[in-house]
Amino acid sequence: MNKIVIAALLAGFSLSAGASQTIRFAAEASYPPFEFIDADNKIQGFDVDLANALCHEIDADCTFTNQAFDSLIPSLKFRRFDAVMSGMDITPEREKQVLFTQPYYDNSALFIAQKGKLANMDALKGKRVGVQNGTTHQKYIGEKLPDVKVVPYDSYQNAVLDLKNGRIDAVFGDTAVVNEWLKNNQELAPLGEKVTDKTYFGNGLGIAVRQGNSELQSKLNAALDKVKANGTYKTLYSKWFQQ
Ligand code: ARG
Repeated sequence: MNKIVIAALLAGFSLSAGASQTIRFAAEASYPPFEFIDADNKIQGFDVDLANALCHEIDADCTFTNQAFDSLIPSLKFRRFDAVMSGMDITPEREKQVLFTQPYYDNSALFIAQKGKLANMDALKGKRVGVQNGTTHQKYIGEKLPDVKVVPYDSYQNAVLDLKNGRIDAVFGDTAVVNEWLKNNQELAPLGEKVTDKTYFGNGLGIAVRQGNSELQSKLNAALDKVKANGTYKTLYSKWFQQ
């Protein structure tokens, strides 16, 4: 070790030859294809691949933390991590608390139920619909469908399990995620049309950073521009989403 290295270590600097920065991302990882934990206990998904591609452009290292969806924004503010990338809709309400990047995915929402159980959306009156805590889906039902009973869950996995067991009558989630459930559960079917109400589901999915961290916001936006232009975004999109 030479003197400069020793001095740097004493001063608490990391001298790894790799990235100059680490960006700590967080997500609630039971939401395939956006983020999920695979059989090897590794976090995977479109958000994770895209985050890694962005970090590559920025020359940063990426880490991911998995935690409850409704605690992501509070923990971001508390500096537990630097960015939230969790299939999160850019909404005016959240924009009061965090800064979002440009949208990286055009989002919509969809109800599902057991095949043949509910004739149409009207049949949802008085029925129990599962949503994840803290999501735009929870807010939408609470405000727009007062006749429907909202049943909040920590994870969408448990909501789908209860739907299959008949404990609830429907689940409301992001279309790409609902499509994944439909692919794996032949007994489930979509109910009604896609919901695209921008008041609730915003202008697409974005990466949230702390207010005041416009430096990271700009870096991520520039990196998004690059991966959208150089074909990486398209490759990842086709890898994770049904065409
Ligand atoms: N798109 C919805 C929202 O922004 C739900 C996101 C849930 N994400 C997750 N990783 N569980 O509220």
